[in-house]
Amino acid sequence: MSDRIDFNDEDSNRSANPTFDSVLANRLNRRGLLLGGVSAAVLTACGGGSGGGGVGFPILPPAPAPAPAPAPAPGPAPGPVEKLLGFGAVAKSLADSVVIPVGYSASVIYALGDPLSGTTPAYANDGTDTDFENRGGDHHDGMEWFGLGADGKRSDSSIDRGLLAVNHEATTDETLASFFLHANGGTTTLPRPAAEVDKEVAVHGIAVLEVRKDGAGKWSYVQDSAFNHRVTPLTEIDIAGPAKGDALMKTKYSPTGVKTRGTLNNCGTGKTPWGTFLTGEENWVNYFTRAAGDDTARGNDKSVTSLKRYGRTAGTASRHGWESAGADDKYQRWNISKTGASTDGTDDYRNEMNGMGFVVEFDPYNKSKLGVKRTALGRYAHESIAFSKPVVGQKVACYMGDDARNEYFYKFVSDAVWSEADANPVDPLATGAKYLDQGTLYVARFDADGAGTWQELSLSNPAVAGFAGYSFANLADVVVNARLAADAVGATKMDRPEWCATNPANGEVYLTLTNNSNRRIEPASSSQLAPDPANPRVYTDMKGATAQSGNPNGHILRMADAGGNPASTSFRWDVYAFGAESGANADTVNLSKLTGDQDFSSPDGLVFSRSTGICWIQTDDGAYTDVTNCMMLAALPGQVGDGAKKTLTYQRADSTQYTVDTMIGKQPTADTLKRFLVGPSGCELTGLCETPDGKAIFVNIQHPGESTKQANLADPSKYTSQWPSNAGYGAGKRPRSATIVITKDDGGRVGS
Ligand code: FEO
Ligand code: CA
Ligand code: CA
Ligand code: CA
Repeated sequence: MSDRIDFNDEDSNRSANPTFDSVLANRLNRRGLLLGGVSAAVLTACGGGSGGGGVGFPILPPAPAPAPAPAPAPGPAPGPVEKLLGFGAVAKSLADSVVIPVGYSASVIYALGDPLSGTTPAYANDGTDTDFENRGGDHHDGMEWFGLGADGKRSDSSIDRGLLAVNHEATTDETLASFFLHANGGTTTLPRPAAEVDKEVAVHGIAVLEVRKDGAGKWSYVQDSAFNHRVTPLTEIDIAGPAKGDALMKTKYSPTGVKTRGTLNNCGTGKTPWGTFLTGEENWVNYFTRAAGDDTARGNDKSVTSLKRYGRTAGTASRHGWESAGADDKYQRWNISKTGASTDGTDDYRNEMNGMGFVVEFDPYNKSKLGVKRTALGRYAHESIAFSKPVVGQKVACYMGDDARNEYFYKFVSDAVWSEADANPVDPLATGAKYLDQGTLYVARFDADGAGTWQELSLSNPAVAGFAGYSFANLADVVVNARLAADAVGATKMDRPEWCATNPANGEVYLTLTNNSNRRIEPASSSQLAPDPANPRVYTDMKGATAQSGNPNGHILRMADAGGNPASTSFRWDVYAFGAESGANADTVNLSKLTGDQDFSSPDGLVFSRSTGICWIQTDDGAYTDVTNCMMLAALPGQVGDGAKKTLTYQRADSTQYTVDTMIGKQPTADTLKRFLVGPSGCELTGLCETPDGKAIFVNIQHPGESTKQANLADPSKYTSQWPSNAGYGAGKRPRSATIVITKDDGGRVGS
C-alpha cells in the first residue's frame, strides 16, 4: 500500500473479548532446515508468451527457452506424466510485468473501461470516457466462471465458452477523486461535480461478461454478447432474509425496507452449489458521511452504538464525497445523518448504511433478475463465501471472513437439507432463498491446543440476548449488527480475515489472515491485542528504514469441522503456513521455513482448483513490496494436524516471559508450495476461476500503479505502473485493473 489512508484496513473493534494470554510453556523444538538452491527462474526481458496468440504481453519467460512442447493431452483427464507443481518456481520480481513460469502463456482479456456492448466505443483511457454502465468496472477482484453451452444455456461441462462474473471493488484515489478516470484528475475538494461522481459510482459493482476460446486456443471476451451487463451502486436490489422489511432497513428509497440500491466494494466471491454468483460487500463504510452532531440528532439511541461499531463515528467524511454532488437522492443517500423529522427514517437516509455489508446473490445467466441481499449471512466487511461440499440430506454451510483488524470469522448453516434436485434448478434465486434465508449464523472462537467452537448468533443464545453492550430487538437486529453479536459471544479477534476456501479433497476450510499492525506483546490501547494461539506472532519486519510491527506478513489458518459435518459446532484448527521473508528468523517469524521460492507476505485471495486440487494463494501486500511485487503461489497442502505444536516465547519490557502455544502445519516442501506468478508494480493479485478441465485459469490484476501521485497524471513516465498498456493492451498509458487468462503451452492443466 502507499502512504495514503488505507480504506481496506478499518479498525473499530473495541470489544473486551478475551485473548489467550498464556498457555503451556512446554517448548517443542521442531526440526527444520532452510530449503534452498531450487532452480529459481531468472528473468529476461523478451517478447510475449508463445502459443496464446493474444495481445503482446510483458511476460518475462525465464531463460532458457522452453523445451519443445509434448503433444497436448487429449481430454480433460490428466495425462500419465502430469506432475502437479512441476513448473519452475518464479522468482520474486519488481518488474512492471506479469511473470509466469516457462511453458505458460498469459494474455489480458478484460480491463477497466472495455466496452461491454456492441455500440460502446473503445476505451480511450485518457479520462474522456463515459458510459461506464456499459464498460468494464475498476479494481477487478473476486471472479467466478459459469459455463455456457452451444445452446446458450448453463453448461457445467463447457470448457470453451462461459460467463465471468467479476467484482469491481473500488477505484484508485489519492484525495477524493478517482483520478485516472478524469482527464485532469478530477476535483479534490468538496463539492464534487456530478459528472465526475456519476463515473466513479458506475465503475463500482459487478460485471458479467461472456468469454470464448477460438479454434486457435485464444481467449477473448465477446463485446456484443447479450449476457454482458453491469450492476452498479445504483441498480435496484432486493433485500431478503431476516432483515427484509425490518425497521432497520426503512429508507426514503424503500419505506417498507424491502429494497435498496446497488452493491458496493465487492471483494471476494462465491459460487453456490446451485450455480449462482455470490459477491461480498467489504469496505462500504467509507463511502458514507455522517454529520458531527448526528449522535445528538439521533438522541444517542442504539443506532449510534451500531454506527460506531461499524466505523462511522459522527463527523466522519466519506471517501469520495459523492454526497456533495447534488440534491438528487442518488447523491444524498451517501449522507447517513438524521435529517428528517420522521420517527422511522422513511424521510431520509439515516438507515441507508444498513443496506450495505451483505452477501449478494445473482443469477449470472439472467440479467433481468434483481440481485438479492442475503441478510441471514450477517452484515460486516465481507470477503469470499466458501461452501461445504453439499451432501444429500445434510445441511449446507458456508464460511465467511470479516476483513478488518481484530474482526471475526463466521459460518452460516442452512435450515434446509441438501437435495440433489437443487443442483440445477429452474429458478436459481428461489433455491438461494431456500438455503440462504433461513438458518443459523455462527462466529468462530479459536481455543488453545487446536480446538475451537462455533458460537451461535441468535436470541436463543443467552450471551446475545443478555448482552450489556447492545439490546438486540430481533434476529434482523442480530444479523445487521453481527459484529456486536459476535462481541457478545466472545469471538476470537483475528488478524484481518480475508478469503476462505474449502479444500475439495477433505472439506477443510482455509482462511487467509492478511496481516495485523495491532498485535502487541504489551497492548497499549484497546485497539491493540496480545497474540493468541490462532494469531500467535508479534515481531518487527523492516521495510527499508521503516519498522513494521505486529503481524506484518500474515498467515493462513485452516480448520476441520468435527466429524466432517459442516453443521458441527466444534472444530480443529492449525496454521497451514505463516507468511514471512525466507531470511527471517525461523524460530520466531519464518515458522513455516519458507524458502526463496515460497516466501510471501499478506495472503489475501485463496481459491482451490476443482480440477487439480491446487490451492492458489494470492497476495495483497505492502510489507515485502520493497523486494517483490504481489504474487500468486500454488500449494498442495495436507490436512489439519499434520504438523506439531509450537510455543512462542516473548520477552516483556520487565523481562518476564509471555508464551503462546500455536499449532503449525507440516513444513511445505519444494513439491508442495511454489511461486507461480508475480504481478506488475503496485498491483494486488485477487480473484481466480478456471474452466472445468483446469486448462485455463482467469486471474485478476487489481490496481497496478496505485501509488501514482495525482500531480503526476500528465506525465506517464512518472506513473508507478503502465500495465497493461506496456503489454500492448489498449490505448493510453494510464494503468488499468484487468483480467488475464493463463494457459499451459503443452495443453496441460494449469499448475502442472
Ligand atoms: Fe477487498 Fe480485504 O480485500
Ligand atoms: Ca522486510
Ligand atoms: Ca481481499
Ligand atoms: Ca487485502
